[in-house]
Amino acid sequence: MKTPLICLFISAAVAAVLPSLTDLSPAAATLTAHTVGAPPLFTGETIQLTEGVLHKLREASKGESLSNQFGFGNEQSRTNITRQCKILPGDPAWPSQSTWDLFDQLLGGRLLRPSLLASPCYAEWPEFNNATCYNLSMNWLNSSLHIGHPTSIMNPLYAGRSCMPFGFNYTNTCTEGGYPAYVVNASTAAQVQLAVNFARNSNLRLVVKNTGHDFNGKSSGKGALSIWTHWLKDKVFYPSFAADDGYVGPAMKLGSGVQAFEAYEYAKQHNVTVVGGEGVTVGLAGGYTLGGGHSPLSSLYGMAADQVLALQVVLADGRFITATSKQHADIYWMLCGGGGSTIGVVTSITIKTYPQIPTTTVTFNFTANDTPGPTAFWAGVESYLDNIERLVDAGTYAYYDLGASVAERGTTYPGDTDYYLRIQSLVAPNMTIAETRSLLQPWFDRLDRLGIRYTPQYYYANNFHDAWKFAFPQEYMGAATTKIASRLLPRQAYHDDAVRQRNFLAHKDAVANGFSIAGFHLTGKGRAVAPPTNNAVLPAWRETLTHAIVIGQWNSTADWKTVERTSSALTKWMQALRDLGSSGAYMSEADLLEPDLTDAFYGVNYPRLHALKQRYDPTGVFFALTAVGAEDWTVLVEDPLPESWNNNGRLCPRGVK
Ligand SMILES: Cc1cc2nc3c(=O)[nH]c(=O)nc-3n(C[C@H](O)[C@H](O)[C@H](O)COP(=O)(O)OP(=O)(O)OC[C@H]3O[C@@H](n4cnc5c(N)ncnc54)[C@H](O)[C@@H]3O)c2cc1C
Ligand SMILES: *[C@@H]1O[C@H](CO)[C@@H](O)[C@H](O)[C@H]1NC(C)=O
Ligand SMILES: *[C@@H]1O[C@H](CO)[C@@H](O)[C@H](O)[C@H]1NC(C)=O
Ligand SMILES: *[C@@H]1O[C@H](CO)[C@@H](O)[C@H](O)[C@H]1NC(C)=O
Ligand SMILES: *[C@@H]1O[C@H](CO)[C@@H](O)[C@H](O)[C@H]1NC(C)=O
Ligand SMILES: *[C@@H]1O[C@H](CO)[C@@H](O)[C@H](O)[C@H]1NC(C)=O
Ligand SMILES: *[C@@H]1O[C@H](CO)[C@@H](O)[C@H](O)[C@H]1NC(C)=O
Ligand SMILES: *[C@@H]1O[C@H](CO)[C@@H](O)[C@H](O)[C@H]1NC(C)=O
Ligand SMILES: *[C@@H]1O[C@H](CO)[C@@H](O)[C@H](O)[C@H]1NC(C)=O
Ligand SMILES: *[C@@H]1O[C@H](CO)[C@@H](O)[C@H](O)[C@H]1NC(C)=O
Ligand SMILES: *[C@@H]1O[C@H](CO)[C@@H](O)[C@H](O)[C@H]1NC(C)=O
Repeated sequence: MKTPLICLFISAAVAAVLPSLTDLSPAAATLTAHTVGAPPLFTGETIQLTEGVLHKLREASKGESLSNQFGFGNEQSRTNITRQCKILPGDPAWPSQSTWDLFDQLLGGRLLRPSLLASPCYAEWPEFNNATCYNLSMNWLNSSLHIGHPTSIMNPLYAGRSCMPFGFNYTNTCTEGGYPAYVVNASTAAQVQLAVNFARNSNLRLVVKNTGHDFNGKSSGKGALSIWTHWLKDKVFYPSFAADDGYVGPAMKLGSGVQAFEAYEYAKQHNVTVVGGEGVTVGLAGGYTLGGGHSPLSSLYGMAADQVLALQVVLADGRFITATSKQHADIYWMLCGGGGSTIGVVTSITIKTYPQIPTTTVTFNFTANDTPGPTAFWAGVESYLDNIERLVDAGTYAYYDLGASVAERGTTYPGDTDYYLRIQSLVAPNMTIAETRSLLQPWFDRLDRLGIRYTPQYYYANNFHDAWKFAFPQEYMGAATTKIASRLLPRQAYHDDAVRQRNFLAHKDAVANGFSIAGFHLTGKGRAVAPPTNNAVLPAWRETLTHAIVIGQWNSTADWKTVERTSSALTKWMQALRDLGSSGAYMSEADLLEPDLTDAFYGVNYPRLHALKQRYDPTGVFFALTAVGAEDWTVLVEDPLPESWNNNGRLCPRGVK
């Protein structure tokens, strides 16, 4: 493949630690790049794997075979494609311990072989420790626990529900499940390049884990080599940045490990605002933005992927590139909205920033007990749907929860009438409390006429960060007791009276069927900006007025049959929302059983996305459930579940076993 790398100059030699292969730990050279349209490289990005370094490795190891394991992909590996099942620990082809040791040395000691997070709860593991286990069990739903661990993910359903702590375990076993075997704790481009090359050349399954938030387990994989991007935390603010697409203005460059709360805080320090999600700990510069990224600011400024001016990426062949609207423009197009884990590992993104913006938030809820009865409750819900078009067009956003039961998630039994609607929270950017109040008045008048009691709590800050921080506390994640499905509800589902009525009845029916709804009223076409046309954001987002996540639930001890039955019922039930108009589903918060998945997640972009996947990752170095090209592979799941239902099994080309 031709890699017109930005002009590079070797400006420093390599460090020396390794006794046998001196000069090669870490295996990297320092390169400084000069390019227009993209900001300077972070220090970690200047440390790269080069042909020169590989040449030295070849000389030092006096053997082609060893050094070949770390070499770049070439034209031949593109044209002579033979896809095989990925290897697992214990296979004859699994790299020897000495190869892993060499790999660690080349990485400068950044290779981890992590124990399972909950292994302290299980006597057969050396980590067994009752006190630590107790601690883990108490904190298991704290996302920070899973983010800070090299392999743990927040929806362990996809890792086979193996090795769960007490209170969350459905069996009493702790096996490796769908978790990676080795992890590169990445801090430089060179480490990422070495890992990508090693995985490609040795036919290892490769995983990229950033925070592990993904709802479909896209950041796990049985027996894989994982690249952990969490510690790529660099941040730089540019008061004026000239991008390749003609944008001239303030911008921020973020290492791909930067999370929402960190980006928001940094933006506040520089008196600007960035587009990020409501979720406090989500990987803003990772899977979130790559997959599109919806935000409390989307109704104003569009999707997170729309903000991207440049990305720095290690591609599947191991080369490090900069992608902008002009340089590697096809890669730029794909990575801005086409999802994580497709053709490369992003090491940083550069995004637009906006001026500081005053923001009001409103939080309130009512349950059936706060109303004269169920009929009034549902009329109150309906009145919300009746106002959504107006609220979105005014530039607002809300995160709402609808369901039954005191637990306020799911129902205790079908037919349960302990209903709740929780507006947690509504965000009115660029509005005062008085303006927000008057915007909401027609809806609140209706609630008042229905005799519904509710107490809206208003909060105003002169900047987005403070309002967001007040309105969105860290959410609980980590159990394996839910399955979600998504539908982007188009304008028609609110504008047209008959369709809106069906939309309302569907909301009601979801709860009657034992599901709950976590919905967002927002649109992906910001009213203060022109939507970009050169990225892969699902076009349905531009017509969306609500992203509805419908949730099916079971308990920790439910067997796989129950899990499967509830999941299938949810997938099937979603037809009620699919029937509200042609649209799609949000890939980052959706159902991997979605029928016609590629169309729902990627829309008209899919043929081009798939062609680019073939072009830049012909052998399938990258794989994640539901990611572009995932349908060409299958996970031979070890749990009593259909293929590709989770990550607990060998990864094979579809049709090969
Ligand atoms: C509590 C919670 C709140 C959420 N809030 C929002 C929200 O407000 N708005 C919204 O749009 N979404 C939200 N999400 C969904 C979120 O966008 C997805 O979970 C997303 O996948 C998270 O990306 P991550 O990098 O943090 O997670 P990970 O699970 O680590 O990664 C997700 C995917 O991206 C890939 N990936 C990550 N980093 C890279 C990289 N540098 N290069 C290549 N591939 C990479 C991974 O391999 C994986 O396939 C939320 C999720 C949760 C659990
Ligand atoms: C292509 O792959 C096949 C099967 O692995 C191999 O036998 C053949 O030599 C390869 N051809 C080239 C040109 O590398
Ligand atoms: C383990 O810890 C729990 C909680 O502290 C305690 O109740 C239990 O007795 C402990 N078990 C053992 C075997 O120490
Ligand atoms: C329990 O967790 C807390 C906070 O994470 C930590 O400070 C403490 O050391 C832990 N205790 C044990 C026994 O692991
Ligand atoms: C979650 O864990 C983090 C880090 O240990 C801690 O700062 C935070 O307070 C915890 N949150 C909750 C709700 O316990
Ligand atoms: C989890 O494991 C413990 C320890 O063996 C066992 O007592 C319990 O039944 C299992 N299930 C749950 C839900 O705790
Ligand atoms: C990973 O690397 C970071 C620094 O980049 C370091 O702080 C952290 O402790 C490392 N984690 C592990 C588990 O080694
Ligand atoms: C911060 O930004 C706002 C809005 O752009 C501007 O009015 C204000 O003067 C700025 N404050 C500082 C300290 O730069
Ligand atoms: C915010 O409101 C002010 C005053 O009404 C207006 O001039 C400005 O354009 C608004 N900004 C955005 C991003 O909508
Ligand atoms: C619901 O609103 C009431 C005030 O009306 C508040 O006291 C309560 O904490 C809220 N409940 C939730 C779950 O937000
Ligand atoms: C958990 O769910 C299973 C299957 O639905 C059911 O048999 C069991 O009684 C439930 N356990 C609890 C504690 O609710």
